[in-house]
Amino acid sequence: MAAESGEKWVLAVTAQTPTNIAVIKYWGKRDEDLILPINDSISVTLDPGHLCTTTSVAVSPAFTHDRIWLNGKEVSLSGGRYQNCLRELRSRATDYEDEKKGIKITKKDWEKLRVHIVSYNNFPTAAGLASSAAGLACLVFSLAKLMNVKEDHSKLSAIARQGSGSACRSLYGGFVKWIMGKEENGSDSIAVQLADEKHWDDLVIIIAVVSSRQKETSSTSGMRDTVETSALIKHRAKEVVPKRIVEMEEAIAKRDFPAFSRLACADSNQFHAVCLDTLPPIFYMNDTSHRIISCVEKWNRHEGSPQVAYTFDAGPNAVLISQNRKAATLLLQRLLFHFPPQSDADLDSYVIGDKTILKDAG
Ligand code: ADP
Ligand code: DP6
Ligand code: CO
Repeated sequence: MAAESGEKWVLAVTAQTPTNIAVIKYWGKRDEDLILPINDSISVTLDPGHLCTTTSVAVSPAFTHDRIWLNGKEVSLSGGRYQNCLRELRSRATDYEDEKKGIKITKKDWEKLRVHIVSYNNFPTAAGLASSAAGLACLVFSLAKLMNVKEDHSKLSAIARQGSGSACRSLYGGFVKWIMGKEENGSDSIAVQLADEKHWDDLVIIIAVVSSRQKETSSTSGMRDTVETSALIKHRAKEVVPKRIVEMEEAIAKRDFPAFSRLACADSNQFHAVCLDTLPPIFYMNDTSHRIISCVEKWNRHEGSPQVAYTFDAGPNAVLISQNRKAATLLLQRLLFHFPPQSDADLDSYVIGDKTILKDAG
């Protein structure tokens, strides 16, 4: 085997994974270690190349420890989540051979070889734009490629889920559902694609970055506190979300924007209500977030039918989904009117393909 020969070789793989934004939110676990949720969730995966993670993974007999650098800084890999993903992938690694380079790695070698991981997010990390979703999905996907893991996307989604719940949905494009599952070992808690990216390609997503600062309460600890202290979360998970999941699947299948918008906005607002119902209360949104909601609500009411849907993850940043390009252009005009660029502010507005990112100093 190559690992015993003392040769100095490095085998590397690079992958890119987009983030996904939930329109029916996951918030709360029934199993902290396996990351099993208390309700189903549905998300939309952003176009690759816009908000995404790029991860390079490498293996070499010269590496003595597993290590990870996130956005240029080394961080600890010791957390249970990274370890769970690494263990699951190593146990599924298969033989690899590159005759030209004289590299041969057996299944047994993979257990001993250490990996180095270098990952960059091209959008704010830990600011409520689902960096853990893109980050952990990319980590699992790139390591699976490196280790010659021959599992399908469904199995990889179950592994990514153990890194960060929302990550299981980033393995697919388009609209994705994370089925909570019933099994204690989590084998049926996987992501499935509801519709691919071409199904509803009129939609335009505008991200208004209200603050790129790291949030005070991580999603993991926030939802743990919610499950422990909120009475409202039980009602949400048992009574509200199951109905919304059925309605949202129907709205997506029929491309019914009014229903889609009504459900997405209501679910975002209930998620933040549940955060307020937590002890101590969690405030992910700020005044600028609230002003954006008012602006969209007023506009939708004025038009008589929803033109734009809003959803806020665990942070102050707005994800605005407009019905088509025309509505997106009008929305941008409104945002720029209500949140005008300040010459001294960190405000950056640019269009990438059919997605627009607006940074607001707020
Ligand atoms: P977010 O709202 O951005 O998903 P979370 O609190 O859920 O915030 O998760 C943020 C954490 O996810 C980071 O502190 C880091 O531990 C992990 N993470 C984010 N991006 C990456 C990445 N590219 N590679 C590995 N881990 C990542
Ligand atoms: C509000 O997946 O980040 O974005 O599983 O603990 O890593 P962990 O949490 P995470 O939670 C995401 C919460 C959310 C809603 C969602 O993405 O469904
Ligand atoms: Co997250």
